[in-house]
Amino acid sequence: MDLLPGRPLTVAEITERLHEARGRTLLLISPLSDEDLQRQHDPLMSPIVWDLGHIAHFEEVWLLKNVEGEGPGSEGLEGMYDPFTNPRAVRDRLPLPGAGEAREFMAGIRRAVVENLHGLDLDGDAPLLRDGFVFRMVLQHEYQHNETILQTLQLKQGAPYPGPRGVLPPRAADPPELPEAFRGADGMVRLPGGPVTIGTDDASDSYDNERPAHVVELDPFDIDRTPVTNGAFLDFIADGGYRRPELWGDEGFRWITEQGIEAPKYWNRRGNEWWTRVMDRERPVDPDRPVAHVCWWEADAFARWAGKRLPTEYEWEAACRWDPATGVSRRFPWGDAAPTPAVANLDVLAFDTAPVWSYRANVTPTGIYGMMGDVWEWTSTDFHGYPGYRTFPYPEYSEVFFGDEYKVLRGGSWATRSGAIRSTFRNWDYPIRRQIFAGFRCARDV
Ligand code: AVJ
Ligand code: FE
Repeated sequence: MDLLPGRPLTVAEITERLHEARGRTLLLISPLSDEDLQRQHDPLMSPIVWDLGHIAHFEEVWLLKNVEGEGPGSEGLEGMYDPFTNPRAVRDRLPLPGAGEAREFMAGIRRAVVENLHGLDLDGDAPLLRDGFVFRMVLQHEYQHNETILQTLQLKQGAPYPGPRGVLPPRAADPPELPEAFRGADGMVRLPGGPVTIGTDDASDSYDNERPAHVVELDPFDIDRTPVTNGAFLDFIADGGYRRPELWGDEGFRWITEQGIEAPKYWNRRGNEWWTRVMDRERPVDPDRPVAHVCWWEADAFARWAGKRLPTEYEWEAACRWDPATGVSRRFPWGDAAPTPAVANLDVLAFDTAPVWSYRANVTPTGIYGMMGDVWEWTSTDFHGYPGYRTFPYPEYSEVFFGDEYKVLRGGSWATRSGAIRSTFRNWDYPIRRQIFAGFRCARDV
């Protein structure tokens, strides 16, 4: 069932989706002991019971308290589940519930929400209810916290998390040659620039920071056909990339030097070989997969080393969604149809990245692969509101993060639920962060 945006949802659709999202959250935590759920595995992350309680509290605020009104004017989260009064590093000092209690809290709120659905005017024009917005928002919130929990699980203390080993498509031969019209330098795709539509006016599914749709003028540019691979990143390392200050911004070079960073997070050297780990699976670094767990500074330095640069978020979005045949902007690289497991590496199904271009249908009409799934992609752009931005429904999702200290990431990773992404979706984080499932691709001026 594809929850197409721009239309109201039925009680059956809402119930089914809420149930599916919760099933995935509970499946994810099912191998964990109460101790695993309650402890703080890393100062960067919350104890997982906090995420669970916070998911339920968010649902209570938006689907029980505010659902028929205009919203509380803030995120509305109080007490220990307010992420602002309780930053991640101190969440283990909160009077958090036990694992069983957290599960009961989630189930209790969910029961009340489902009961309450029948009394709502789902086809009406109330701001939060219009075209199912508030349900889509609450669903996406749970999806996003699944990815947060996965970051925690990769950082897990004690026995590693038993990640189910996913099935990947067969390793693919090189992709079809580029159409002449889009052939750029060094195997990159060349896009013509000109006016492109960025963002969306959809108010049923997208976040406030994706709106409004607006036209941006782009110069012609080249962009990589795939995310940067481990193989290419190994060449950067072998060429002394981490030790050459001229490739780095001052702040970035100071940071990696201070931290002793000389490879992506979760890599370790065994003799002459680099190995890496995803949850409980250790293997030699696969040269054909996208590099993951690099911070923005590493991405920026690699791009400089390669004689390239990071794309702006506008270039990235134009590359992802522009159909040259019609000039129309679309929801996904391949069109408007929702992702399926055959199309893109999303939804935690593979439990790992896949070799680049093994998902043959994950391609734009211009020949660019893997823009959705596998790894989030760093862009060069700081996170700001679009011209005409209006907060809806609360400022703590986007607005309070606007500014120069965050960089925009695009696309979604293998750990992202497919319902949480689209070509206009904007993620953001500090340029030093590496526990997120992030890689990048490069661009270049023509
Ligand atoms: C959009 C991923 C940056 O995790 O900080 C979750 C998502 N917002 N709960 C985050 C979010 C509120 C947000 N990111
Ligand atoms: Fe949250």
